[in-house]
Order: sequence, then C-alpha cells, then structure tokens
Amino acid sequence: MVRHPLSLTAMAVVLLAMPVVSHAAAGKQTPNAPGEETAVAADAASGTSPATSEAADADTPAAETAQGSTEHAEAAHGEYEMDHLNWSFNGIFGAYDRASLQRGFQIYKEVCSACHSMTRLSYRNLSALGYNDGEVKAIAASVTVSDGPNDEGEMFDRPGRPSDHFKSPFPNVQAAKAGNGGAYPPDLSLIAKARHGGADYIHAILTGYSEPPAGKELMSGQYWNRAMHGNIIAMPPPLTDGRVAYSDNSPQTLEQYSRDVSQFLTWAAEPHMEERKRIGIKAFLFMLVLTGVLFGVKKKIWADQH
Ligand code: HEC
Repeated sequence: MVRHPLSLTAMAVVLLAMPVVSHAAAGKQTPNAPGEETAVAADAASGTSPATSEAADADTPAAETAQGSTEHAEAAHGEYEMDHLNWSFNGIFGAYDRASLQRGFQIYKEVCSACHSMTRLSYRNLSALGYNDGEVKAIAASVTVSDGPNDEGEMFDRPGRPSDHFKSPFPNVQAAKAGNGGAYPPDLSLIAKARHGGADYIHAILTGYSEPPAGKELMSGQYWNRAMHGNIIAMPPPLTDGRVAYSDNSPQTLEQYSRDVSQFLTWAAEPHMEERKRIGIKAFLFMLVLTGVLFGVKKKIWADQH
C-alpha cells in the first residue's frame, strides 16, 4: 500500500467527490424533469409568508371552483401549494427540537385531546420529549382511567400510570362522530405519516382557516380551509392567538402553536427518526472505510500482475 501513495490519493478523491458530484447532478436534473419545473416555480411563488399566500389564495380559481363535484374539489386541492417550513428535523442530520415537542404536547393535551385520540402513545413514551420520570408520572396521574373488573366484578376508576395508553376522549367511533356533528376526528398517532406533506400539512390545516369566498355557502358545522381536500372541513378552528399559555418565552400565536403541535405529531408518528438517521450515517461511513480497505487489499493481491 505504501508503494502506491498516488493511487491511494486518487481513491480518496473519488470517494470524497462521489457524494458531491451526485448531489450536483441531482440539483441539475430537477428543472429538466417533466412536471418538476412547475412544482419548483409554484414553491417559489407560494413563498414562506402565510399572509401573502393567503391573500393570493383568496382570488385564485381554486377558491372559486371548490365545492360541488369531486372533480372540482380535486382541482382546488391540486392548486393549493402548502408552505414548506424549515423544520429542525429535516435533512440527514435533522433532529427534533425538545422544547418545541413539549409545547406541542401541551397543545395536544389542552386543545386537541378534547376530540382526537392518540391511542398508540403511552405516557411513558413522553420521556423522549425530555420529561423526567416524576414528570411523566404526574402527567399520567392527571387523567382518570377506567380499569377492572376488580374481585367484585366491578369496573373502577384510578389515576393513570405511565404504562397506560393516552386516554381517548370518546369511548368509540360512533360516540366520537355523534360528538362532532357526524364527522370523525381521526386518531392523531400516525396522522403525520398518513397525510401527504406531514408536518407541513398539519401546519397548513391549522393555519388555513378563513371566511369562505363570496358565493360559497357553508352548512352549520362546516368551515372553510384552504389546505383541506375540497376546502371544507368539519373541525372548528382549534387554535387562535393566545389560546394556550406557554411557560417559556415562545410566542403565544397561532403560527407558533401550529408549528409546535405539528412537530409533536411528527415525533409521535416517527419517534425513532433520529436513531434511523444516525444509523444511516454510520452505515455510510462504514461502507466508505470498507471500500478503502478492500481497494487496498485488491491492489496488494494484484501487485505482481501489474
Ligand atoms: C372540537 C373538536 C376538535 C378539536 C378540539 C380538534 N379537532 Fe381536529 N378534527 C376534528 C374533526 C371533527 C375532524 C374531521 C374533519 C373532517 O373530516 O372534515 C378533524 C380533523 C383533523 C385533522 C385531519 C384533517 C384531514 O386531513 O382529514 C387533523 C390533522 C386535525 N384534526 C388536527 C387537529 C389538531 C392538531 C388539533 C389541536 C390543535 C385538533 N385537530 C383539534 C375535531 C377537532
């Protein structure tokens, strides 16, 4: 190996250059791919300011044609571009923001949990948000769960334990529908994975309410939401500025609330994301080193033949 310092250098250059080249190539391809160009343009147009995109949205044909037949609804849905936010968990080195997760859980607990279950979570899972054992116990104990039957065959109430699953607001789907004018508030455990756009989509729904455009009649229990498929949603706007009191200095605004609860719901749907990314990076580095070693060995074995 020492005899071939040049080829070793060349190999290192190739290995290091590979990701850079492929990255650049991917960047170049985007505008060439059919359909992609418009998506990029629309992205740029939608911008990051909710205020401007909302204003722009009010007059678009999408808003005009919504309601009515499914085709129209489809078209309306297709034309709305949700904002793509800069989440801390984006990218290969991305990680959740613990403080935001805790605030997001607070939003869920104080607002969303009145209608939405999250049955796949247990209170003990909350330790991943940075709560210590005592805090998790206290959170669990703040709800009353039905347990049993006891020796007398009776069900009984007791304070929640860390091993309990999140308490559901309704005993069954029918009761949930009956309590929400016939619409079912879906379980939020996996919603961030179940909906295209994930956190961006949840944020878009929560911030997407407005008065219906002129000429659109809403029935009672219906609300206009630019991010919802077909623009009509049966969920009353759950969040408004000042609705929840934060104990840190974060802004108590609809925008901040929406970001925090979207981050929390993303974690709930993908609690092992950070670990997955770490393993990916380690695997990549391992492959890199292995490639180098194998290349060196190959050189040595074939040295006589050259
Ligand atoms: C008053 C009850 C109520 C509250 C409180 C509530 N929701 Fe909803 N939510 C609903 C109902 C009902 C639906 C079903 C709407 C529909 O299908 O039109 C729904 C639907 C949703 C959807 C799915 C939209 C879709 O794509 O189908 C999301 C996401 C959601 N809610 C998130 C939240 C979050 C986050 C909170 C807390 C900030 C919250 N909700 C608070 C009743 C509620």
